[in-house]
Amino acid sequence: MTHASEQILAPDALLSLPKAELHLHIEGTLEPELILELAARNGITLPHPTLEELREQYEFTDLQSFLNLYYANMAVLITEADFAAMTRAYLSRARESGVRHAEIMFDPQAHVARGVELTTAVNGIAAALASSEAEFGISTVLIAAFLRDETEESALEVLEALLSMGAPIAGIGLDSAEVGNPPSKFIRLYRRAAEAGLRLTAHAGEEGPPFYVEDSLNLLGVERIDHGIRAVEDRVLVQRLVREQVPLTVCPLSNVRLRAVDTLAAHPLPQMITVGLNVCINSDDPAYFGGYVGANFDAMAAEFGWDAATVEKLAGNSIRSSFAPAARKDELLAELAEWSASHR
Ligand code: ADE
Ligand code: ZN
Repeated sequence: MTHASEQILAPDALLSLPKAELHLHIEGTLEPELILELAARNGITLPHPTLEELREQYEFTDLQSFLNLYYANMAVLITEADFAAMTRAYLSRARESGVRHAEIMFDPQAHVARGVELTTAVNGIAAALASSEAEFGISTVLIAAFLRDETEESALEVLEALLSMGAPIAGIGLDSAEVGNPPSKFIRLYRRAAEAGLRLTAHAGEEGPPFYVEDSLNLLGVERIDHGIRAVEDRVLVQRLVREQVPLTVCPLSNVRLRAVDTLAAHPLPQMITVGLNVCINSDDPAYFGGYVGANFDAMAAEFGWDAATVEKLAGNSIRSSFAPAARKDELLAELAEWSASHR
């Protein structure tokens, strides 16, 4: 019998690996083709109106250079149907990547700032999510992410609006330009969200220093860290993250495309696994970074020659670290055990 660690993984083994995606911006799933289709439907003239011109913009030097295009492209999202179409397109692609549970962030402030009603964004996304289990076999959780380069007052105002409309959000996140916008800016926001019974996550240690990771835990009380790769620069912090098994939602292709790491070969994920951090693989903004979660697994497995036991560990971490109900986690862990048995 072949031991799991000697198994060479067939490419579709990684796609059939049951997994949860915990770090995904729904606006980052807008593919160029859909951007142009929605622009035409809504009579919007984009600065880069052809596929060729638009695609030329997908060369990034850092997080901000990506965010500029990401926010500009959101201009095509006008109606509930637009938000629903974007979300359904993601779910369909996620299914092809073997995603069985997805925790989906959206940026409510970015839409309100463009004059789009909060209810339009929320209802459109929620309509697509409502049929996700039946249609795509993917359970979902919706997370409202707040823009850290905006004020805490703006975030609190939008959070109150989401709560009073009964938006089906399970948690909050913190995203956008990290450096210069530390967790300490959002203490009241996280206190209010916790009071409302919401789950808490935040981007930290993507471009920002390790102490942003520590402060997200200490000051904001987050349960999960999105990215967290720069934590490896602080030995004491790593020891704490290992001890507390804080989930880190790592996004390898994103990190390379935004130049947070130089190359895939230089990515700290293998080292993070070795030291016992609770890491999982995610796609972040797959339409911008060269692939969905399956492509992230593929690229890393090929780069580092991962075996079945390694990818099983990563998929298990994603399921256990999710905000899914215990019964759903058990179901997915049982599926994962079945996958493992057939890949030994
Ligand atoms: N918003 C969308 N993608 C993001 C990322 N990778 N980092 C911070 N904010 C984001
Ligand atoms: Zn992100």
